[in-house]
Amino acid sequence: MSTTELSPFSAPEIRQTGILIGDEFRPSVSGKTFSTVNPATEDVICEVAEGDAADVDLAVRAARMAFESGPWSRMDARDRGRLLNRLADLLEKNFDELAALETLDNGKPISDSRAADLPLVIDCFRYYAGWADKIHGNTIPIRGDYFCYTRREPIGVCGQIIPWNFPMLMVAWKWGPALATGNTIVMKPAEQTPLTCLRMAELALEAGFPPGVINVVPGYGPTAGAALVRHPQVDKIAFTGEGLTAKIIMRDAAETLKRLTFELGGKSPNIVFADADLDAAVAGAEFGLFFNQGQCCCAGSRLFVEDSVHDEFVERMIARIRDRRVGNPFDQDTRQGPQVDQAQFDRILRYIDRGRAQGAECVAGGRRVGDRGYFVEPTVFTDVTDEMDIAREEIFGPVMSILKFSDLNEVSRRANNTAYGLAAAVWTRDVSKAHVLSRDLRAGTVWVNCYDVFDAAAPFGGFKMSGIGRELGEAGLANYTELKTVTMALNSR
Ligand code: NAI
Ligand code: MG
Repeated sequence: MSTTELSPFSAPEIRQTGILIGDEFRPSVSGKTFSTVNPATEDVICEVAEGDAADVDLAVRAARMAFESGPWSRMDARDRGRLLNRLADLLEKNFDELAALETLDNGKPISDSRAADLPLVIDCFRYYAGWADKIHGNTIPIRGDYFCYTRREPIGVCGQIIPWNFPMLMVAWKWGPALATGNTIVMKPAEQTPLTCLRMAELALEAGFPPGVINVVPGYGPTAGAALVRHPQVDKIAFTGEGLTAKIIMRDAAETLKRLTFELGGKSPNIVFADADLDAAVAGAEFGLFFNQGQCCCAGSRLFVEDSVHDEFVERMIARIRDRRVGNPFDQDTRQGPQVDQAQFDRILRYIDRGRAQGAECVAGGRRVGDRGYFVEPTVFTDVTDEMDIAREEIFGPVMSILKFSDLNEVSRRANNTAYGLAAAVWTRDVSKAHVLSRDLRAGTVWVNCYDVFDAAAPFGGFKMSGIGRELGEAGLANYTELKTVTMALNSR
């Protein structure tokens, strides 16, 4: 597939492929590199320095020094906010290049990089820029002749480990609140998608963040990631990714009792009642599952449709799916690009086989597209039952599972019958049903008559095995501060 003819930005300059320690991008201590691949063509884009324990140690020392001495530790809160705003300005200035780099490395359609990822990234930095000088303690009237107050202080050196599905946005969600509150960072981007993170780090230096405040160590999870989790000078780990990885991180972090926040997977119920605006529900369900090639932690991957409208809903869904254009992500009209890598591609096709084998009916898609690149047809299964693997496990691909239900209590119980609890949605014109389910669904986010509405000000995170802690909003700041109580004797009587 030729991408260069289709867009002036389809071959962005690759500026940084090194490990950022302090203010220097450098090769790994071992000299090793790894390839990052264009998922639309399976071609290697470039080699990137492969960090491991030795590089992580250098990065943590730089972050420690920046936290304990140097300009960052003495900087006024308002000036931290100014730096975050300056970074947002530079992201805007380099908008075309960043969008193209994200599409090249991840495979997401250029129209999504431009209309969804980057605007959310920029908004997130501006939102947290505004918080930097508004992080207050309290004065507390305790018994006795004392003056008691609290301070919110940064935690210290924060290790941040992120996945490949929203590479730039995960950087923003992690850096924004950590920097607004005065922490320093060692980030490990996903091995599939290191390029935009490195470019954002370069822009952060240009914005004026002092050396060592942000360090980036590209590499693999069990080596670079695990070294960060085990490092005694790292105070906290913020992780987004798979639940199995979170369990390993929790064990590895136990020795040093690190603070941990997790944003993990989901099997989010999307519930369509017969009284819903069906056009809106079909469009919303399509978006809620297929957006980002289905690679969303909050994908509406258990689609419950009330039996009286089920057949009509399925018919309309299939008609919409036919129009979904799958192909070159640099083509402006493409709605769906490739999956991120071979492993994800294989895993999705295995789930499709298992869905068929366990008795679900594949009414659309179900195969690979073409013979080059990790493209999967938009796929719809009907006759899905609660016990099937495709209704229980996270597929993380363009595979929709439609289940039937007949009343509110039944669907509420079935929707909650999962180890996950990240998101849920309800489509109805009945205010009472909407409120009852918004109360009863065990999930960190409930969308009513909409899906995937994100805002930097609205907290996001999981109940149960979908996570610990909340990102975004004021709640996101709590992940990055320690609360200190100061009590002073007054002896005034
Ligand atoms: P993963 O959880 O293994 O990878 C996420 C990040 O963790 C990457 O940066 C990786 O290098 C790092 N990592 C891996 N092992 C580690 C370890 N032992 N210590 C420290 N860091 C480690 O996810 P992966 O393998 O890329 O995808 C597998 C499945 O996870 C997907 O199919 C999907 O179901 C789910 N997933 C969920 C995401 C979400 O947003 N909740 C994002 C990505 C994947
Ligand atoms: Mg993994």
